[in-house]
Amino acid sequence: MALDKKLIVGNWKMNLDTHEASLYLHKLAGLVKVRRDVEVVLAPTILSLQSLSLQVERRQFKLAVQNLYWRDSGPFTGEVSATQLRGVVDYAIIGHSERRHIFHETDKDVRNKVQAALRNGIKPILCIGETASERTYGETKDVIHDQLIGGLANTTSEELSDITIAYEPVWAIGTGKNASPTDVTDAVLAIRSQVKHLYGATAAKAMRVLYGGSVTADSAGGYLSLDSVDGLLVGGASLDAYMFSEIIKKAHKGSDS
Ligand code: 13P
Repeated sequence: MALDKKLIVGNWKMNLDTHEASLYLHKLAGLVKVRRDVEVVLAPTILSLQSLSLQVERRQFKLAVQNLYWRDSGPFTGEVSATQLRGVVDYAIIGHSERRHIFHETDKDVRNKVQAALRNGIKPILCIGETASERTYGETKDVIHDQLIGGLANTTSEELSDITIAYEPVWAIGTGKNASPTDVTDAVLAIRSQVKHLYGATAAKAMRVLYGGSVTADSAGGYLSLDSVDGLLVGGASLDAYMFSEIIKKAHKGSDS
């Protein structure tokens, strides 16, 4: 584990309108206590970010954008830049498998976005993970290797401390199929060993690595107890404020609430 602090991220994907997002935040705020050993990040749709940033108590929750464009400004119709998001969000989810597979984002796009986030003071959460067929063919470690090299190519070791890696096997996202603790441990160790190779042992140890893929309040505790895992990236189960609060509670060491 990199830090003595767990990171729990709720990725709402394309769900909840601005009104629903505000009601959700109000409800979650009443369910979750501020804890020194847990950092909670909410990733609503881009439309709700501005209003939630005014409503949110930043000691309690941070905000993340689900995607951004890598140029800072210019003729890029429909896109939003890291420069525009600066001050609104603390984190950016980058290279999510839905971006890679549905919107054909390449490793080059991902690396440009990582750089754009960093130069605008936004911490990237870089998502990597293999598809079902890559897993069947035993290519998991190769995919991890390629996506890490692809996403981090222009990143310096100083910048690395602001990057979180999320291991999200594509076959486990939204499918109800959980990666086993052994799958997750193997993948996270492969990630750390690759980062060690690129940046050295200290950087590899210090880097936060999350697991994501069909996490529920029931399965969260098992992943969080893994030594190598620093937190969770939660999709479906983060859409229910009560269920998400239960996941957040699992990340707090003393389970006194
Ligand atoms: P689910 O938790 O719905 O499987 O989604 C995971 C995910 O993609 C989070 O980014």
